Amino acid sequence: MSKIAVLGYGVVGSGVVELFYKNKEKIEKKAGHEMDVKFILDIREFPDSPYKDKFVKSIDEIVNDGEVTTVAECMGGVEPAFTFTKQCLEKGISVCTSNKELVAAKGDELLALAQANSCNYFFEASVGGAIPIIRPLHRCLAGNDITSVAGILNGTTNFILTKMINDGMKFDDALKLAQELGYAESNPAADVEGHDACRKICIISSLVYGRHVYPDSVYTKGITDIKLEDVQIVDKIGAIKLIAQVSRISDETILPTVMPMIVPHESLLSSVSDVFNAVMVNGDGIDKVMFYGRGAGKLPTASAVMGDIVEAEKHSKTVLSQSWEAASDNSFVEDYTKLSAKMYFRINAADKDKVNTVCSNAEVICSDDNNYAFVTEKLSMKQALEMQDKLKNNGVEVITLLPLLSE
Ligand code: HSE
Repeated sequence: MSKIAVLGYGVVGSGVVELFYKNKEKIEKKAGHEMDVKFILDIREFPDSPYKDKFVKSIDEIVNDGEVTTVAECMGGVEPAFTFTKQCLEKGISVCTSNKELVAAKGDELLALAQANSCNYFFEASVGGAIPIIRPLHRCLAGNDITSVAGILNGTTNFILTKMINDGMKFDDALKLAQELGYAESNPAADVEGHDACRKICIISSLVYGRHVYPDSVYTKGITDIKLEDVQIVDKIGAIKLIAQVSRISDETILPTVMPMIVPHESLLSSVSDVFNAVMVNGDGIDKVMFYGRGAGKLPTASAVMGDIVEAEKHSKTVLSQSWEAASDNSFVEDYTKLSAKMYFRINAADKDKVNTVCSNAEVICSDDNNYAFVTEKLSMKQALEMQDKLKNNGVEVITLLPLLSE
């Protein structure tokens, strides 16, 4: 019988415990031996919990117990999760985490520590909630040169955008509902300002391209400026989604970005709604593969943690977690102005006659009494920003500039 411990009894941690006891026999069969949850670490009291005898307040009880073989870290945040994870790995205890903030900040260091101590640091739950994406990327798709990955990686913003588009719900009401459903971060600014999606694309980029990509090197824009007029106007050609993507630009450089983009209706990503996430991977062998599922929530995320626990338990003392190099600088991360895409511009209808001098071959998608909106040929973001400046010099204010996703 092996013993596991759960750090943090919030949405995900309590989901791990619930799923474990719900499917205990099936999980044990898959792991190949009996298992039990010995400890749950949380600073709060849970006197009415059926697991009240398992609660502890100090990590030392877990790392010095001698019986615990795998820990599920579901605390979130960098500290004290970082210190606790290091303490576990140094004792050869595998750690399975849903903590994208920690993996994005310290993944290189923790993976190296796991390797040095013949145990595993698994993080399937850190990207895409229930969706298996980490293991497929570094194992099933290992034979490919992966040219790009693009995805909807934040359930909260996708839920908010869907509620705004389909139900005419106000931004704040949709966010409140996402919080009630357990999708949002404790500070939902991380969701709506794109930082959560940024952490996730950093993890994917590091995994795929082999060097640690730090969140502060990635251009990140959230959905707080999205206007209902644009949502309605672009409905003719696609849907506005928060897209996290990374592309290989050259042998030496990559371009990761997080920003709202117009996803054309032809793309499978355009129909990904509510809390669902999807990840589209392009590679030279596979052409395209898409992964789809619930991107947040208690049991979907717990499912990914539980899968990692079974893998860690089955392969105790065998290092299976993928490592990537630490990065001493960010020179391999390109600037977002290199992004190449068709561009959507919206201006005031009164200024429409001034557009032709700056941009002659655009496709007009809206021309009514208030708004004039058009889509350009493919441009770099640098060229699009220059066009915005030229329009400004001609007395035209660009109300909205959004790139279109090209797969
Ligand atoms: N707040 C995150 C989201 C939770 O909405 O996607 C899952 O990582």
